Amino acid sequence: MLKNIIQSKYCPIFLSSLIFLYYLHYFLPLLILAYFIIAHFVHLYQRGPIRKYNQINLEGKIVIITGASAGIGKETARKLAWQNATIIFACRDEQKTIKVINEIKQETGNSKLHYMNLQLDDYNNVKEFVKDFKNKFTQLDILINNAGIAQWWHKYNKNNHELVFATNYLGHFLLTRLLMDSMSKESRIIIVSSVMHEMIRSKLNFNDVLNGKYLENYNNTKYCGVLLCQKLSRILKSTKVVALHPGVIKTELLDKAGNTIILQLIQKMLFWLFRPMTLSVEEGAETTIYCALMPYRELLNGGYYEKNRLSKYSKSIEKLNQVEELWEFSHQILKEYL
Ligand SMILES: NC(=O)c1ccc[n+]([C@@H]2O[C@H](COP(=O)([O-])OP(=O)(O)OC[C@H]3O[C@@H](n4cnc5c(N)ncnc54)[C@H](OP(=O)(O)O)[C@@H]3O)[C@@H](O)[C@H]2O)c1
Repeated sequence: MLKNIIQSKYCPIFLSSLIFLYYLHYFLPLLILAYFIIAHFVHLYQRGPIRKYNQINLEGKIVIITGASAGIGKETARKLAWQNATIIFACRDEQKTIKVINEIKQETGNSKLHYMNLQLDDYNNVKEFVKDFKNKFTQLDILINNAGIAQWWHKYNKNNHELVFATNYLGHFLLTRLLMDSMSKESRIIIVSSVMHEMIRSKLNFNDVLNGKYLENYNNTKYCGVLLCQKLSRILKSTKVVALHPGVIKTELLDKAGNTIILQLIQKMLFWLFRPMTLSVEEGAETTIYCALMPYRELLNGGYYEKNRLSKYSKSIEKLNQVEELWEFSHQILKEYL
């Protein structure tokens, strides 16, 4: 057997593997150390500058945050509660959200935190939400379109619209469109998009997105969010609109994506392996908080933020030129709700 190996053409590979394994215990600590040093710098780079907002008081300001029952939305709500804002938790799960509200009320002493039911993929519910909001409040200062889902397999809502597109984009489009006339002077709309919008390199057929013909609908919805930001920033007069990428954060997003057990395990392993490079949920909310709290004159209307600072959209956004097409398409699809 040994003779066979020595005579075979694989002998050099076999020998170098043996030598590598023999000396591995010398290198391993060095490799691990190098990994943690690199991971630390990647983490710092992703997080961006640390900002303090001690002086900012949002007393009297009305804020809506969609998807504030978990993840980035919940941490954003916690921070804005510290700044004294009146916050509407626009969420679909009452029990879960009330628990979050009570936790934040207790921690911050802010009693102006309200639950209002919002199910983004149900357009009648979105309309009801807006009606209810307008009955209770006369103005809106900050709208944070944060809620989102990712699904590996296509599902559909009551209208037979692909669920990720209906939740992440169409529901938010409808919500924003119906709230446009409630926006106060010097108000802001913050759209939580993702770096994944950069994956779109050729024109989308929005009918195909709606019908679930594309595999990667999550990326498509994030691209649509950026297009919506562009359009709104052009037409709204005293409201600034921005989009952002929060970073890579371990939240409930992928846990709820409907994976098979094997994919879930791979996902967990990858997150565990790259954990030192990814952001904590608190850090992941920082860019949204920065956009909500920076002085109004400094916020770039139509701008794109990431790593807690101003950044740039994918170059494809301008080249593909689909802002108007998506605006028309969205009105057409949702005309009976507008
Ligand atoms: N995590 C990341 O690495 C990452 C990266 C880039 C962008 N983002 C974006 O960041 C945003 C927040 O995500 P996350 O990571 O914080 O995820 P998360 O922990 O899963 O939170 C998502 C929130 O959206 C809510 N939601 C889902 N479907 C809804 C619906 N149909 N109607 C109303 N609310 C709904 C969820 O409600 P329930 O609690 O009831 O499920 C939850 O409050 C998303 O837009 C996501 O695309 C995240």
